[in-house]
Amino acid sequence: MFNKEIYQQRRHRLCDQLSTGIVLLPGHTESPMNYPENTYLFRQNSHFLYFAGLDMPGLFVIIDVDSRETILFADELTIDDIIWMGPKPSFKEIAATVGIEKVLPVAQLAPYVEKALCQQRTVHYLPLYRAETALQLGALLNRHPATLSEGVSEAFIKAVVAQRSVKSPEEIAEIDKASEVGYLMQEYVMANMHPGKTERELAGMAEGLALSKAAGISFPIILSQRGEVLHGHDHSLVLKKGSLVICDCGAESLEHYACDYTRTTPVGGRFTPLQRDLYNLVLAANNKAFDLIKPGVFYKDVHQACSLVLAEGLKGLGLLKGDMNDAVAAGAHSLFMPHGLGHMMGLDVHDMEDLGENYVGYDETISRSSQFGLRSLRLGRRLQEGFVLTVEPGLYFMPALIEKWKAEKINADFVCYDKALALVGTGGIRIEDDAIVTADGCRMSGSKRPPVTVAEIEAYFKD
Ligand code: GLY
Ligand code: MN
Ligand code: MN
Repeated sequence: MFNKEIYQQRRHRLCDQLSTGIVLLPGHTESPMNYPENTYLFRQNSHFLYFAGLDMPGLFVIIDVDSRETILFADELTIDDIIWMGPKPSFKEIAATVGIEKVLPVAQLAPYVEKALCQQRTVHYLPLYRAETALQLGALLNRHPATLSEGVSEAFIKAVVAQRSVKSPEEIAEIDKASEVGYLMQEYVMANMHPGKTERELAGMAEGLALSKAAGISFPIILSQRGEVLHGHDHSLVLKKGSLVICDCGAESLEHYACDYTRTTPVGGRFTPLQRDLYNLVLAANNKAFDLIKPGVFYKDVHQACSLVLAEGLKGLGLLKGDMNDAVAAGAHSLFMPHGLGHMMGLDVHDMEDLGENYVGYDETISRSSQFGLRSLRLGRRLQEGFVLTVEPGLYFMPALIEKWKAEKINADFVCYDKALALVGTGGIRIEDDAIVTADGCRMSGSKRPPVTVAEIEAYFKD
């Protein structure tokens, strides 16, 4: 938890931005796995963490924008709670640690909201993504949970995006801590890429590192020899000598700030000449982004510059043909990289994605493209000092997509379909690092970049 003044300042700034009404900040409840007392690892709602800092289940905060009063709704422990879960400080004391002076029992939450509704005050709440929270808000607001999306406060969304997009030094320090653990996860996977081991074994050990050194994983680990499946979570395969393994993983710091790294390693620790050529292309695109990222630059332009690096290289390998500026403008390279260059990162690995990607990644100066590939770019807008974002170019050989483009002659002027089909089975290559935008450029998160050159990765493998 940060100093209480940080949470007070965040709430004051929110009130300045919203001007009137009440703000509802529901914390998360425990989420059962198979019966109520057997729960998933608790993860607090990120907006609740940002404005109220308290990392425990069953809390609800209301901010009165007009009076600037913040109220925590929480019930003190019963003797049964103490018997089973142990004692803890009173909520009055807990609330004081985040600068909240007023605590009311949960039974007073519904009457409080009802009074505000009767007075026709504006009630601000954010989009909901958990059924438990939707049921709770539906009951408080007398709305069917399915209709809650109609009442979401756009002003609140925009105020949150404005604040959370720019990370303070304390937040960046947390992202650096998460990155140290992410480094260890990647290092372990690289060093243990032995034929005969299973994907499950490596993914499980990496997840164990995240749990033992930090608050756990920042998203379900992607670790697969089927790297062309972008968000594949299957870990059932046995590692086969020579195949490429994508490992996309990250940890959350104890304050729940994320890191997000991807490395691609050959099983057995040696790249083939073709794998090396493709890998070096992706690395060149990744490095290009770090040369370009600085305040004032549109991330969409960085995406396009990296796309050009990939396209020129793909032409050199006989996979694309023609003028590569035209090919990138037409989106022909997206056959091999159908996703965006990166996304914002912070308390969420895809930061604030629950609020809507376009609010986070685009603004009134730039709207999202509808072109295949570019439409999947989550962050396109102008960068500012304090933004933290991922850089994750990749190359993939997806049989279904290549077959479709060939059959429909999509970008036929630029794509050598048969050459692309010949590389099916290569899987995928992605290299992902996290960038912190500084006053005049950027730096990578953490104290050191996980091994990334072919020589570094090959040196890491231990026979
Ligand atoms: N962790 C998924 C991604 O890289 O966005
Ligand atoms: Mn990732
Ligand atoms: Mn990512």
